[in-house]
Amino acid sequence: MLSNSVSFRRTNGGVGAFVENVDLSEPLSPELVNTLKSGLGEHGVLFFRDQDIDADAHQAFAECLGNIDINRFFKPVDGYPKIAEVRKEPDQKYAIGEDWHTDHSYDQIPALGSILLARELPSRGGDTMFSNMYAAYEALSDGLKEVLDGLQANHSSRHRFGYQSTANKNSKDTGGRLGNPDLATQDAVHPVVITHPISGKKALYVNRAFTLGFVGWTEAESKALLDLLYNHASQPEFTYRFEWEPGSVAMWDNRATWHKALNDYHGERRLMHRITLEGEALYA
Ligand code: OGA
Ligand code: MN
Repeated sequence: MLSNSVSFRRTNGGVGAFVENVDLSEPLSPELVNTLKSGLGEHGVLFFRDQDIDADAHQAFAECLGNIDINRFFKPVDGYPKIAEVRKEPDQKYAIGEDWHTDHSYDQIPALGSILLARELPSRGGDTMFSNMYAAYEALSDGLKEVLDGLQANHSSRHRFGYQSTANKNSKDTGGRLGNPDLATQDAVHPVVITHPISGKKALYVNRAFTLGFVGWTEAESKALLDLLYNHASQPEFTYRFEWEPGSVAMWDNRATWHKALNDYHGERRLMHRITLEGEALYA
């Protein structure tokens, strides 16, 4: 596939683009890698349809884009320690990633993003939502932008994946999917508004799952402003709802987007394979 034939078609929603004329099972040329990276930085999430890629091809694609960041908490795919399973079984109630979130914001060097592909889909449901953190930031007033531009926030993995987390309290239900609560020891401070490492644009960088509060603010003060930001940034006009099909791939940038798994397919299995790419330190 010639790299100059690749094209981006924006979704009908507030974030993301479909990538057309690309076959991810083929080795990617350096130009195509650059095109995909800058498309990712610009659109926040790239969607691909009708890809025929096995686990080796999934990993080869990821390795063209960067180093793989192995998630500490997810069970790996058999024989593929660098590929995480995102699984919900028919008898399980909770899905992984049900709240709006950004993966790995608790790491000092948060992951760039993930390449998620569908392996087994329910007969209906199981879509993934994405939201645009450039647009969410942009739509704030100049007054609030000024406040946020000078702030930093604390993020942690402890309350989500540690012994105190709901996931681990319901360990029977999440059994085999989320593990290693003793590894949930990550704490990080990041700017609340980051300059995106690829696009250079400003993006809001707090999320409901892992952000604890603003540095130097009380819990109550933080909660009030974070709730406002969470309500603001999840408005439908910033979002897109992606319907998975066999052969679909979504590649998102954690620094430009939030995502959320819709858990509306109880009694059926959904199995996705996820490879996460290493990121870099984030700056205001
Ligand atoms: C993830 C995640 C959403 C989904 O893999 O990080 O949040 O729809 N997945 O499975
Ligand atoms: Mn996630």
